[in-house]
Amino acid sequence: SEPSTQDPTIPDALWNSRFLKACRREPVDATPVWLMRQAGRYMTEYRSLRAKVSFLELCKNPELAAETTIFAAETLGVDAAILFADILLILEPLGFGLEFSKGEGPVIHDPIREAAHVAGMMPLEDLSALSYVFDAIRLIRAGLPAGLPLIGFAGAPFTLACYAIEGGGSKNYERAKAFMYGDPGAWNALMTVLTDSTARYLNAQVKAGVQAVQVFDSWVGSLGPDDYRRFVLPHMRRLFDQIDPGVPAIHFGADTGSLLELQRDAGGTVIGLDWRVELDRCWERLGPEVAVQGNLDPVVLFAPLSEIALQTRRILGQAGGRPGHIFNLGHGILPHTPVDHVRALVQMVHEFSAR
Ligand code: CP3
Repeated sequence: SEPSTQDPTIPDALWNSRFLKACRREPVDATPVWLMRQAGRYMTEYRSLRAKVSFLELCKNPELAAETTIFAAETLGVDAAILFADILLILEPLGFGLEFSKGEGPVIHDPIREAAHVAGMMPLEDLSALSYVFDAIRLIRAGLPAGLPLIGFAGAPFTLACYAIEGGGSKNYERAKAFMYGDPGAWNALMTVLTDSTARYLNAQVKAGVQAVQVFDSWVGSLGPDDYRRFVLPHMRRLFDQIDPGVPAIHFGADTGSLLELQRDAGGTVIGLDWRVELDRCWERLGPEVAVQGNLDPVVLFAPLSEIALQTRRILGQAGGRPGHIFNLGHGILPHTPVDHVRALVQMVHEFSAR
């Protein structure tokens, strides 16, 4: 599923953008860069908006969500914008109560405690409960510069299942893994519901106007390779097989150094790498058929500019000018990151990689 021929509905300015070229592993004039969680609390403007509306209200207000996406992309000078939303929003129409409480992170009410709960769940057919997301996408697309691609996203089924079972964040995912090992039938039923709902959700984002999608499997690094193969890979393959082949799909996981080949086998035209791995060695392992995204440690943004420059040069050197590298952090920007360092990073990537 290689998006190598131009869909007539995609304007040239977008098709020929650095970001989409790199996704297709075509040569570019400079390495494209964007940053996971590029719109967020490290920005003063975001914090003032959040003083007036809650996080969920912000996600559900298409005008404000669009403004947040566009402001971050333009302030930073990045090569792609990302939809302002959250991976957990899809849990609401699947029947879970969702809350973002101060200081505690997300809380999912009525989490799954038994197989019977899963038996009553159906893949989302009607996406109208998420229409605010598609409205935001249309507003963002209309407001962004013509050549700046917009990335849509969703959570991967494993990561969503962890939240749905744990009821929130977790350190060891004891409940989720106990459920997975204890009742593989119910686990597979849950993963199928999440997979098929997510595929429809992502394709609806594409229809609304995103040029690429990223699947966040943030917590899958908690699994060993054999468990990934048995409990996750078939679902991820089914997910990527259903995503519109006309758009690049970025497959992101954190702490997945021992899972990378399996993740590649599951799907995605771009594989995300975190900072715990060496970009050059991993790209070797992954082979020539995929692009890679990464992989600066988000904490390096707290270091002096000289250290940021050193590590940026190192990562660009490891990519070796080979077509198909998208510069990013290895995970999302942290809340107290200095904005001037983020902007400096974007400039450094462009300057050091200019060809
Ligand atoms: O990248 C972007 O700028 C787009 C927006 C975006 C958000 N969340 C906004 C957000 C994206 C892509 C996400 C993805 C997301 N959400 C993930 C996967 C990425 C990752 O980091 O692994 C996960 C695991 C979530 C779930 C989630 N949402 C958590 C754990 C939290 C609380 C922790 C935190 O950082 O506050 C959120 C809240 C959230 N999502 C905020 C933002 C800007 C902060 C909300 C606020 O207080 O304003």
